[in-house]
Amino acid sequence: MKVIAVATQKGGVGKTSTTVNLGAGLALGGARVLIVDLDPQAQAGTALGVNLAGEDQLSRSLGWVLQARLQGMRMDVATVWFDRSELVAEFEDAGTLHLLACEESTMTAAQDLIHKKGYQSTPVLRRMLMELEDQFDFVVIDTPPAVSSLSATALAAADYVITVCVPEYPALKGAAATRGTVAYVKDRTGGECDPQYLGAVLNRSNPPSRWKAQEVNIRNGMLDANLAPFETDVRSDNRISDSFAYGVPSVLRFASHPPGKMYGELMGQILTRMSQPEEKWELPERIEGEAAGV
Ligand SMILES: Nc1ncnc2c1ncn2[C@@H]1O[C@H](COP(=O)(O)OP(=O)(O)OP(=O)(O)O)[C@@H](O)[C@H]1O
Ligand SMILES: [Mg+2]
Repeated sequence: MKVIAVATQKGGVGKTSTTVNLGAGLALGGARVLIVDLDPQAQAGTALGVNLAGEDQLSRSLGWVLQARLQGMRMDVATVWFDRSELVAEFEDAGTLHLLACEESTMTAAQDLIHKKGYQSTPVLRRMLMELEDQFDFVVIDTPPAVSSLSATALAAADYVITVCVPEYPALKGAAATRGTVAYVKDRTGGECDPQYLGAVLNRSNPPSRWKAQEVNIRNGMLDANLAPFETDVRSDNRISDSFAYGVPSVLRFASHPPGKMYGELMGQILTRMSQPEEKWELPERIEGEAAGV
């Protein structure tokens, strides 16, 4: 089982879109996938058609499960997760897709508890996921924006961390800060957790022929900041944003159109990097000279 966290401090750049499309795409390719929604905004759940509402559903929030575990109680995660495999059922040779959903109040309480207990409590999610090792091939974790005890918990749970950027300067800064944080996780968890940084997705990009100076600078800035951008960018595409409303990720709704193809390529590059040492990773070329359209 490989655990991938999608993280950056910057809000609204596409963490959730990347998480659900990668997770669903891996399931489409035959893998057994668990998507973990660690953001109190609970958007990964929305993107997969699950919204926890009402008292009876709060007990299925990951926020409850984390609180219980932090207080030394055991909870069977399989009674809480949502089986969303129906989303991939129509595809031949698809795998399975499960979701650990969350809800704001329970998640915020879990966040406060982790914060109170300090860094030694951040492996709580990793320990829980390791118990599911035989049941999933991939776990993909959606994380909240900003630095919080929940984002620290996500990084501690991860084998690999992917960050996301859009062609705007603050996004570059947020991604670089996250990359820097990954390096401290091992020390802060007494060696228990040791995530590897895997690269940055440039999301909401335009076709290179329409790139302006800022986009060229961000692409080059990603290379300069050692963010190891993937070769495939995810273009700005309304089909990606619309899909939230349908509760079905774009990679499934438009499997043989650009969203499916872009995420498919990206997935291939992610899997390749996982199997290679960093020196062998393929990076996009640096763009020299004037940007097109400037
Ligand atoms: N490639 C894309 N093309 C078009 N719209 C996109 C794309 N990626 C993301 N969006 C839209 O941008 C908005 C923000 O994306 P998303 O929710 O994935 O970001 P986020 O980083 O998870 O945000 P937050 O920090 O609030 O959790 C959403 O409305 C989403 O549908
Ligand atoms: Mg999000």
